[in-house]
Amino acid sequence: MNDLRSIWFESDQLHFIDQTQIPFNTKIISTGSYERIAQAIERLEIRGAPLIGVAAAYAIFLGLRQTQADENQSFEYIYNRLLRTRPTAVNLLHALELMKKVYEKAADPALLLQELKAAAEKFHLDDINSCDNIAQNGLQIFNGKSNVLTHCNTGSFAASGGGTALNVIKNAFRNGLVGDVYVDETRPLLQGARLNAFELDNAGIPFKIITDSMAATVLSRGNIDFVITGADRIARNGDTANKIGTLGLAVLCKYYNIPFYIAAPETTIDRAISTGEDIIIEERSPKEMFNINDIKITLPDYKFFNPSFDISPGNLIKAIITDKKVYYFPYSF
Ligand code: MRU
Repeated sequence: MNDLRSIWFESDQLHFIDQTQIPFNTKIISTGSYERIAQAIERLEIRGAPLIGVAAAYAIFLGLRQTQADENQSFEYIYNRLLRTRPTAVNLLHALELMKKVYEKAADPALLLQELKAAAEKFHLDDINSCDNIAQNGLQIFNGKSNVLTHCNTGSFAASGGGTALNVIKNAFRNGLVGDVYVDETRPLLQGARLNAFELDNAGIPFKIITDSMAATVLSRGNIDFVITGADRIARNGDTANKIGTLGLAVLCKYYNIPFYIAAPETTIDRAISTGEDIIIEERSPKEMFNINDIKITLPDYKFFNPSFDISPGNLIKAIITDKKVYYFPYSF
């Protein structure tokens, strides 16, 4: 069902599109180094909760392969290096824990690398299938042709398959269920204006980009049927961490009585935490705010606050669409 691949694994190398260059250049980076993958995650060359998980699973295999070749780092070192890259999306932890189990269970050291590689490949395949299932389950929220608004990038750049929220939109479009699509630009790194726009354009889906501050005006006009976004971590009560700006949309939807939906793999639900208060919100460099493509838009000496995610309370979310089913509020995962 997918139209674009942002990551693949071939000849024991991870190949990925450098997302910082989209939509201007489609530059492919190929590496066999776990450290290079860790850096790619930190720089958002690889980003989006499910995609980070897939990249990290391969990075563990590659890291262990490097270690067996030149005996430099322990499993724990590689695991912790990757875990430190980004704290909010649970998919990273999930991938690392899964690989850790394979590492700890391996009975024959001669087979360890083979088993790690097979586990990463299975994790990758599961993610692709999960994207397809989210897209299918997402059809349930449509009540005829709908106008939608979305935030951040949640398509093929955010997962190894077709994505989550944007995949719901893409699949619904193929089924004749999508009218207008409004794309929040998603400051500061413009995942909407750059990545969603690129994907929608590629898929032949008409869309309009708005600045994040225009969402209130668009929603107030009464012709948006629903807002749908992805998630980086979902607590047991449905509180959802997602790209900064999502909370504003959830509150606006409540005010204007517009359904607000989340689409995410079942694995984004973190059953270890009861509410969003337990979610660590990543704070990123102020440079992302004062610099756009190396052009300063204000003085770097000013003070900045750059939280990368926010938390929408579960009671503002009408339903959470996963690869297994559509959960409706109230949530008790
Ligand atoms: O900082 P990013 O670009 O990695 O943030 C991504 C998001 O917040 C996405 O909405 C989320 O990961 C879901 S992706 C399917």
